[in-house]
Amino acid sequence: MAQEDPRIIELRAMRERARQAGGAERLAKQHAKHKLTARERLDLLLDPDSFNELAPFITQQSDDLNLGGERYLGDGVIIGSGQIDGRTVYVYAQDFTIHGGTLGAMQSRKICQVMDLALRNGAPIIGLIDSGGARIQEGVRSLDGYTEIFRRNAQYSGIIPQISIMLGPCAGGASYSPALTDLIIMVRQHSYMFITGPDVIRAVTGEQIDAESLGGTDIHMATSGLAHLAAAADQEALALCRRMLGYLPSNNIENPPSAPPADDPQRMDDELNVIVPLDPAVPYSMHAVVSKVVDRDSFVELQPAWACNALVGLAHMDGHSVGIVAQEPSVMAGVIDIDAADKIARFVRMCDCFNLPLLTFVDSPGFLPGVEQEHGGIIRHGAKIIYAYAEATVPKISVVTRKAYGGAYVVMNSKYLGSDINYAWPSAEIAVMGAEGAVNILFKKPIAAADDPKAERARLAENYRQHFSNPYYAAGVGAIDDIIEPRETRPRLIMALAALRDKSVATLPRKHGNIPV
Ligand code: HXC
Repeated sequence: MAQEDPRIIELRAMRERARQAGGAERLAKQHAKHKLTARERLDLLLDPDSFNELAPFITQQSDDLNLGGERYLGDGVIIGSGQIDGRTVYVYAQDFTIHGGTLGAMQSRKICQVMDLALRNGAPIIGLIDSGGARIQEGVRSLDGYTEIFRRNAQYSGIIPQISIMLGPCAGGASYSPALTDLIIMVRQHSYMFITGPDVIRAVTGEQIDAESLGGTDIHMATSGLAHLAAAADQEALALCRRMLGYLPSNNIENPPSAPPADDPQRMDDELNVIVPLDPAVPYSMHAVVSKVVDRDSFVELQPAWACNALVGLAHMDGHSVGIVAQEPSVMAGVIDIDAADKIARFVRMCDCFNLPLLTFVDSPGFLPGVEQEHGGIIRHGAKIIYAYAEATVPKISVVTRKAYGGAYVVMNSKYLGSDINYAWPSAEIAVMGAEGAVNILFKKPIAAADDPKAERARLAENYRQHFSNPYYAAGVGAIDDIIEPRETRPRLIMALAALRDKSVATLPRKHGNIPV
C-alpha cells in the first residue's frame, strides 16, 4: 500500500490541535469550575453526529499590544450547523480556554458568517456565550467586531429565532448581543452579565460588589428581567434550549412545528368552575388556570421571577404552539405596572414575529396608581402593550376570567384593539372602574347629603355592580363574543384556534412603526 500523503497526516494533526483549544491546563480549569468545554456543549445541544464545523483554522490576525501570545486555531469560537430534533440550526460556541472567549476581529468574522448563513437558510441561530467581552489587545477592531454582530442581531430580529445561552462571565459586549436576541437562558452560579464588571465599578465609584450580586442569574431573572429562563447547570440549559425550539418555527415564514397530540382536545376541567372565588377580593392562581387549559405539562413560563403580576409563556393547544399572556391575580392583584407592561409587550411581539397565536387571560383591576409609576413613565410603558397587540396579526383570543377594569380591559387584547375572539367567564367584571371608585366620583354630592352616607354609598355601589360588574353588559354591546363556563375553556379555545389557523391580514405599507420604546 502506498505511503499515506503527509499533507493528510498534517491535516489530522491540525484538527487535533484545534480540538485542544487553549490547552489541557485551561480545559481542566474549565472542568474544575463544573463547566463544560465548548465542544462538549455542542455535543449536548445538537443531535448526535449532526455538527458540521466551519472555519476551524481561523486565527487571530492582530495584536496591537504585542502581547505575543499563541495564535490559537479557531480564535476562541466554534461555529457551524447542526440539527435539533432533525431541524437545522446554526450555532456558535465561545471557547473560554482561548483568551477567555473574548471577541476580536476574526472571532467576530466567524460569528457573523454563521449568522448570515442562518438568515439565508431560514434557520435559528444559537449562541453559547462564555466570554470576557471585547478583546483588549485588538482595540477598536474588537469593538467593531461586536458592532457587526449587534447590527445582525437587530436586522435579523423577527426573521429567524435567536437564542442566547449564557454559560460564563459575559462581560461588556458579550451581554449586548444577547439583549438583542429573543430568548436568554442563564446558568446559576456560572453566568454573569454586566456592562461594567466589579473591578471597573470599584475603580470608578468605589462601590464594592461581587459578580453574582451585580449580574448573576438570580439578578437577571428577578430584578432586571433580562433573562427568560434559568438552569442549574450547562446540561440543563442546553436541554432547555432544545425544548424551546420545539415551540418555535425556524423562521418567520414557517408555522411553528406541531407536537404529537398528547392530551384530549375535548377535555373539560370541572375544577375551573370553582377556581374563581365568589369574593372578588380573594385571589386565585392564574398559573393553575393556564395549566388546566393547555395541553398537559406543555406550559413553559418565561421570566417567571420578574414582574410576577404578569405571566407569559409558551404552550401547546392540541399539539400546536401558542403564546400565553395573563395577569396573575395572586400577585399585586394582577395590576399592570411598568415592568409588567414591558414583559407583556415584548412577549406579544415575539409571538407575532414567529406566528404563534396569542391566548390572553385577563384578570386585572387596572394600571398601578402612584407617583412612582406615573413619573417612571407608566403611560409610555403601558402604551407598548396597546401597540404590540394592535400590530400583531397572529390569531388573537382572550378570556376575561374576572376583573377587566379601565385600561387593563382595553390593553389586554380587547375586541376593538383587533382581537379575533373574546370570551368571558360568568365571573367577569368589565367596567371603566371598580364600583367604589365609580360611585365616589359619580355620586359625591348625593352621598354627602344622605342621612347615612355609608349606607347610601353601599347601595349605589351594589346598583353599579348589578349594572356593570358582570359580562352581560359587555356581551350585550358586542365587546364579548360569548360567555362560557370555565370548564369548557379548553375545547372552546381549541375550536377557535382551529378556525383561525388560516388567518391572513394585509397590513398597510410603511417602513416600520414607531413603538414607544
Ligand atoms: C483580553 C481577556 C479579557 C479581555 C479576560 N481575558 N478578559 N483578554 N481581553 N477583555 C483573558 C485573561 O487574560 C486570561 O488569559 C483569560 O482571558 C481568562 O481570564 P481570567 O481573568 O484568568 O479568568 P477568570 O478569573 O475566570 O475571570 C474571567 C473574567 C475576567 C471575569 C471575564 O477576566 C474579567 O473581568 N475580564 C474583563 C471583563 C471586561 O471588563 N470586559 C469588558 C470589555 S469592554 P490567559 O491567557 O491567562 O488564559 C467591552 C466593550 C464592548 O466588551 C462594548 C460593546 C457595547
